[in-house]
Amino acid sequence: MNFSEQYELYHAHFEEYLQNRCAGMAFKPDILTESMRYSLLSGGKRVRPVLFFASLEAFGQAYRGEEALAFAIECIHTYSLIHDDLPAMDNDDFRRGKPSSHKAFGEANAILAGDALLSYAFDIALGECMRGERYIRAAQALSAAAGAAGMVAGQSLDLLCTGKGGGERELLQLWRDKTGRLIAAPVVMAALLAGKYADEAEQFGLALGTLFQITDDILDAVGSRNTLGKSVGKDAREQKLTAVSVYGLEGAEKQADRYACKCKELLHTMAGADIAFLEKLVEYVRRRDR
Ligand code: IPE
Ligand code: IPE
Ligand code: MG
Ligand code: MG
Ligand code: MG
Repeated sequence: MNFSEQYELYHAHFEEYLQNRCAGMAFKPDILTESMRYSLLSGGKRVRPVLFFASLEAFGQAYRGEEALAFAIECIHTYSLIHDDLPAMDNDDFRRGKPSSHKAFGEANAILAGDALLSYAFDIALGECMRGERYIRAAQALSAAAGAAGMVAGQSLDLLCTGKGGGERELLQLWRDKTGRLIAAPVVMAALLAGKYADEAEQFGLALGTLFQITDDILDAVGSRNTLGKSVGKDAREQKLTAVSVYGLEGAEKQADRYACKCKELLHTMAGADIAFLEKLVEYVRRRDR
């Protein structure tokens, strides 16, 4: 099986689970369920669930039966996108190829859809904790990555730096916190479930998350709105601190190459792990156009 086929296999497995979970949601009032479903089912790349499944397999664990935690990760990621798009934050009207949550449901309902997805994620993760201590550790890793010491800290720093410049030091922190932590989370969680590679998984995941944000910044500058499913050219207009604002486009491409190499080196520190798919995933993140 080649990389695309394997990605599609993980993706389809996750998508089926997601469809079933969404079909089973019956939160009242209906608008709450509708707004949660609207954002969850709008066709993201599902990189984090795929990374979770692939890491489990790389570390010698079965991924079938571990869908709930993949879903919890995607709920947190989706909430982060809904809030990131709000007028008070990035003020983006277009997401995953559709009007953003606040455009479809109004600002207050979008805030609540995000709140609901965040709590729902931990409802699901706590349900898994009954399966044993490894799951408690995995849920803990997820909450740390999502919260005030993780993605939320990164978003706070992003706002602080917007319109005010900032340099390499802030940029490194931004990459790591706003994006790196939620990309590292599935790899770290898989390592905790496998009971090995926890440190290596964190180093690799953070480097991959950094690479992911560098390519996100590049795509905002040169990507296409239709392919990306979100607005482009906004980082420069809003004077965001990005790889492109600090290094220029060519410099950002070089940084991306640098982090792609670093990711591969870090994968090779995981003695005995089956890293073939993850290596190709690094290349996919480096070359992505959406
Ligand atoms: C976008 O994440 C936000 C960032 C962290 C850069 P994705 O590029 O994974 O978005 P979806 O899930 O595919 O829509
Ligand atoms: C956001 O980074 C990362 C999140 C924590 C959601 P961006 O603001 O660059 O993400 P996009 O470009 O809107 O997807
Ligand atoms: Mg943002
Ligand atoms: Mg944004
Ligand atoms: Mg962006």
